[in-house]
Amino acid sequence: MNLLIKNGTVINANGRRKADVAVCDGVITAVEEKQGDGSSASLREAEEPSPYFTEVVDASGLLVLPGAIDVHTHFELQFGETLSSADDFFTGTSAAACGGVTSIMDFVTPERGESLHVALEKRKRIAAEKACIDFGLHMGISEINDLVLAEMAKVKAAGVSSFKVFMTYAFRLSEEEFKRALSRAKEIDALIMVHAEDHELLEAKRAEFIAAGKTDAWHHYLSRPEDVETKAVEKAVELAKETGAKLYIVHLACAEGLKAIEKAQQEGYPVYAETCPQYLNFTCEVYKRSDGRNFVCSPPMKGEQSKKMLWYGIKNNIIDTLATDHCPFQSFDKDMGINDFTKIPNGVMGVENLYPYMLSEANKGNITFERVVELCSSNPAKIFGITPSKGSITPGSDADIVLYDPDKDFTISQKNMHSNIDYTIWEGTRLNGYPVRTYSRGNLIYKDGEFLGNSGYGQFLRRGSF
Ligand code: URP
Ligand code: ZN
Ligand code: ZN
Repeated sequence: MNLLIKNGTVINANGRRKADVAVCDGVITAVEEKQGDGSSASLREAEEPSPYFTEVVDASGLLVLPGAIDVHTHFELQFGETLSSADDFFTGTSAAACGGVTSIMDFVTPERGESLHVALEKRKRIAAEKACIDFGLHMGISEINDLVLAEMAKVKAAGVSSFKVFMTYAFRLSEEEFKRALSRAKEIDALIMVHAEDHELLEAKRAEFIAAGKTDAWHHYLSRPEDVETKAVEKAVELAKETGAKLYIVHLACAEGLKAIEKAQQEGYPVYAETCPQYLNFTCEVYKRSDGRNFVCSPPMKGEQSKKMLWYGIKNNIIDTLATDHCPFQSFDKDMGINDFTKIPNGVMGVENLYPYMLSEANKGNITFERVVELCSSNPAKIFGITPSKGSITPGSDADIVLYDPDKDFTISQKNMHSNIDYTIWEGTRLNGYPVRTYSRGNLIYKDGEFLGNSGYGQFLRRGSF
C-alpha cells in the first residue's frame, strides 16, 4: 500500500517546510517541497488515489510530524504477588497510538539469579503478542556478578543496548555495583539508565512518618522530597564522571538534580536527562487532594521551583528527552494504601498525553514544535539507537507519522482516553491542538479519536548504540 500525504507542514527537529510525503511499503520514499504553484515536483500528478498511491491524504492546515517515541513505559508491571499495572501491552500501546506515539520502550525485570537473556525472550514474547506499535526493551539489572556482566554483551547483541539500575527499592544496586555496571556498559558501548532516589534518606523519613501515624499521600511526597532525589542524582553523576560511562537519568523531577546534570554536560560528560509531562504540569500539591493517592509515583512531583527549573532545562537543552513512566494502577488498587502511603502501588499515566501536551505547549508559544519533536522523537531515537529508521520524516525512515491539527481544541477526560484505567491525573486539562491521525509503518492506526490498529502488529526494535 502506497500513501501520499499532501499539502502539510513537515516538522523535523531541525526545521519545518511545506512538503508532500510519499510512503511505499511502510517506508518514507520522498519528502518533496512545494513549488511556487503549490504542487511538489514529481508528486504533483497524484491528486487522487491511483494504481500507485492507494491513499492520498490532504493535510492542508495540518502538521506532519514523526511519531513520538516513549522510551519509558511499564505495561503489565508486576506489583507484589497478584497485582499488575493497569495497561497491558495491548491497551497501553493502543492508548499510545491514539496520542501520537509510534514506538515505546518498556523493561525486562529478571528475577534474582535468572539469565538476562531468558528473561528478555520471555518479556519479548509477552509484548510481541499484544503490542500494536513497535517496541523496544531495556534490561533491568538488580545484581552484579560475572554472569550478569557477561550477559550484558549478549543482550546488547540481541538489540537491548540500555540497562536500567535503581538506587532505591529492594532491587537497588550498591554504589560499588552501580560503578561496575557503568564500567561494563562503557566497555560494551551501552547506556546505563538510573532511577535516582537516595534509599537511606527516604527510608528514614518513611519510618519516621509511619511511626508518627502520618500516613496520607502528602507524606509520600514528604518522605521523598527534593533532597532525596538531588542526593542520588549527584551521586549517579559523580560515578558517571569517574567511569566515563554514558548515563541517562530517568524521570528527573528536581531542580538541584538538573543543576548537577547541567554542570556535567558543560564539562563534556555524556550525561543525559529525561523528564515526564507530569513533572512539567503538576506539583506536589496534587498529594493534598482527597484522591491524592491516585497520583503517588516515585519520584513524586515536587514543588513549583522544580517545575520551573525543569522547563528551564527543556528550553536550555539540558533535558534531552520527554517520556512518561506510564505505570497507572486502578483507583481501587491505589486504595490499598488508603491508610498507609507505603502500600500504594506507584505510578501515573501519560502515554496518551505526552505528545498532545507538549505540542499544545508549542501551539501556545512556550516552546517550538521543532524542540518538541526533538525531545519526544528524534533524541529518543538517537540516544536509544534506532536511527535512521525512527525519529524523523526523512526518505528511508519508517513511515511513523502523526498528523496534528493545531486548531482542534481538546479537553482530556478519562472518558476520551484509551487506557484501561478508571481516572486520569490529566482530567479537565485543556489542550490547544490535537493529533488527528497516526500511521505506523504507513498503516493508519488512529483517526479522529478512534484506534484502528491491531494487537500483535508491533515489531521488536533491535537497537544499536547511541
Ligand atoms: O512510580 C513509578 N514511577 N513507578 C514505576 C517504576 C519506576 O520507578 O519507574
Ligand atoms: Zn523509576
Ligand atoms: Zn519507571
